[in-house]
Amino acid sequence: MLKESQNRMFQEVGPGTPMGNLMRHYWHPVAAVAELDGNPTKPIRLMGENLVLYKDLSGGYGLVDRHCPHRRADMSYGFVEKCGLRCNYHGWLFDEKGACIEQPFEEMIDPDGNFKGKVNIKAYPVEAKAGMLWAYMGSEPTPLIPNWEPFTWKNGFSQVVFSHIPCNWFQCQENSIDPVHFEWMHANWSTRLGNAEGPYAPTHQKIKFEEFEHGFIYKRVREDTDEENPLWTVGRVCLWPNALFTGGHFEWRVPVDDENTLSVSWFFSRVPHDREPFVQERIPYWTSPIKDPETGRWISSHIINQDIIAWVGQGVQADRTQEHLGRSDEGIIMIRKRYVDDMKRIDNGEEPKGIYRDKKANGCIDLPIIGKEQFINGHTREEIDNFPRDYNPSTPNRFLFHAGQPEEVRKQYEAATGVKMMDKGIVE
Ligand code: FES
Ligand SMILES: [Fe+2]
Repeated sequence: MLKESQNRMFQEVGPGTPMGNLMRHYWHPVAAVAELDGNPTKPIRLMGENLVLYKDLSGGYGLVDRHCPHRRADMSYGFVEKCGLRCNYHGWLFDEKGACIEQPFEEMIDPDGNFKGKVNIKAYPVEAKAGMLWAYMGSEPTPLIPNWEPFTWKNGFSQVVFSHIPCNWFQCQENSIDPVHFEWMHANWSTRLGNAEGPYAPTHQKIKFEEFEHGFIYKRVREDTDEENPLWTVGRVCLWPNALFTGGHFEWRVPVDDENTLSVSWFFSRVPHDREPFVQERIPYWTSPIKDPETGRWISSHIINQDIIAWVGQGVQADRTQEHLGRSDEGIIMIRKRYVDDMKRIDNGEEPKGIYRDKKANGCIDLPIIGKEQFINGHTREEIDNFPRDYNPSTPNRFLFHAGQPEEVRKQYEAATGVKMMDKGIVE
């Protein structure tokens, strides 16, 4: 149970708040690279700030204030030029660093004046990686976007999936270190949603949480596994500061403001040997629905949709003054403590956890992954056709995680892998 002020401290991400300062030390994925191909500007809200993401005519990216510093017009209606974004009201042009580089009328009237040198628009750096656009809203020196090992894997089909979640980001992230929910929310609830009364999944017998360089790892022993099982020897990763990594995919919980979160997932599927070499020209992206328009209820058929039901179910901002943490919540307690310690470090002028600055070390950052070799080495067609369980994590034949995968993306996946997709989620 937390005091109200502690709860607020975890939730508030606006400029100048302790958690806002902490989260501004990191790059966050905010859009797909392919997204700006159709429309080069996109209004976007991040950590309580209204901004516009753009790709200019030279292919450069920028992220600037939603409002023009002249008379506050909406820059998302601006148009891109060879360099930068031009306001559509009076044509002031700004580069990716926020400098005003043209003021057409002012410059004509007063060619020797330097009014534009006195005007800036708020601007943040943007970089592309793994088919996503990443934003950094902190101070300099700018760190590196971590080059996680799966981003370097070859012969894979990736896709980026967004969901707009109407609740605070912190309750989404607490779900990243919550092993016991697998048994109930995903396994047993899915059984019941599928209209079977059982059998229920093997129960968790033992769980353990460890901090490591890139976040936290949770390990578990279930009724049907032992300490030799990779669930215990390898475990799974709660990635610092706002992600989950399961092996085949990442999920980032990007704070939009104190009441909304952008869920960004990146999936990697390995093509079979007979499709190698495979190079993906364009990483597709799509937005997954979370509510059934007919019933008005949250969608429960896919794994991340089920998680989302937990997150939004806790309220727009979970009231942690009313919670009762038990033995399954040791990981939650550990990460809360780490956030508080990191906020203190920042107060002391030190860096928080998980900042990457060494280019060489950032060439490829290894992560613990159950079944890593499947993603790296792949499978023959025969192995895929005869996979011993009903679901092959590296080259799946159904998309279990988010509802509403567009047919176009499904077809691209099938063309890349030669695997025929089944049209169902986790609930059958
Ligand atoms: S309001 Fe943007 S140029 Fe005038
Ligand atoms: Fe989950």
